Amino acid sequence: MNLRAGETFRITVNGQARHVETQPGRRLSDVLRRNLSLTGTKSGCDAGDCGACTVLLDGAPVCACLTPLAQAAGRQVLTVEGLGATQAHAALQDSFLRHGAAQCGICTPGMLMAAVALLSRTATPSRAEAEAALGGVLCRCTGYAKIIDAVCDVRMDAPAAPMPAPGAAVGARLPRLDGRPKVTGGELFGGDFRCEAPLTVLAIRSPHPAARFTLGDTATWAADRSAQVFTAADIPGENRFGVIPPFADQPALAEGEVRLRGEAVALVAAPRRWPRRSISPASR
Ligand code: FES
Ligand code: FES
Repeated sequence: MNLRAGETFRITVNGQARHVETQPGRRLSDVLRRNLSLTGTKSGCDAGDCGACTVLLDGAPVCACLTPLAQAAGRQVLTVEGLGATQAHAALQDSFLRHGAAQCGICTPGMLMAAVALLSRTATPSRAEAEAALGGVLCRCTGYAKIIDAVCDVRMDAPAAPMPAPGAAVGARLPRLDGRPKVTGGELFGGDFRCEAPLTVLAIRSPHPAARFTLGDTATWAADRSAQVFTAADIPGENRFGVIPPFADQPALAEGEVRLRGEAVALVAAPRRWPRRSISPASR
């Protein structure tokens, strides 16, 4: 097949034929998230390390961040948004909720997809089989035990996470109020939001460990005047920050004097494609 930049690719995602016109080498995870708005597939490392981007390609788990779009062309892709259509998938999602296996939820789509691939081969996996199948997906919250419990205890007849009877809540396992979106791919994290006209914000930092400075006429910094420059004078209230608020003692933007190399002296907000080299701070 002769693939060219900007070619149209047909992939079947969650049972639906989708056409994407883009470059063949783009990450499948990126195409799913940006072109098809399927943000349930998470992007953790874009390097094949974390497994957060795991999807099924013709039934086999793959890291979507390492899969070029061209490799998925003409094939079946299943993402977390496609779960729930079958009773078995819904039972797996319910098992994650019942066992508290979805906590922050960032790894949950990848865990679910790896589990779906396992359960399609082995309906009642052993713990060792579950650990091996999910070993490529990292979780920083659960300690893994709850996830393995959930995969090994999928039951068609069990409610997702039953509410305790009135008067019996103390000591009982409670369903997470925010649990369901974590197992359906509906949960939105910071990287899942898209802004139609985002600005790039650049910090202008001191190259010196200690220096006094003036900024001059900031209006002349951007040759085309498309950027907005912010200095300490633009900060409403007190120009201070710190890790422990009561002890905040560092200026957010230095005023006339820097006390460490890399201290920010100004911020420049500009349209996304604004070329960095066109900034020329007139400082001294
Ligand atoms: S985002 Fe693909 S493995 Fe981490
Ligand atoms: S639930 Fe938070 S990283 Fe796994």
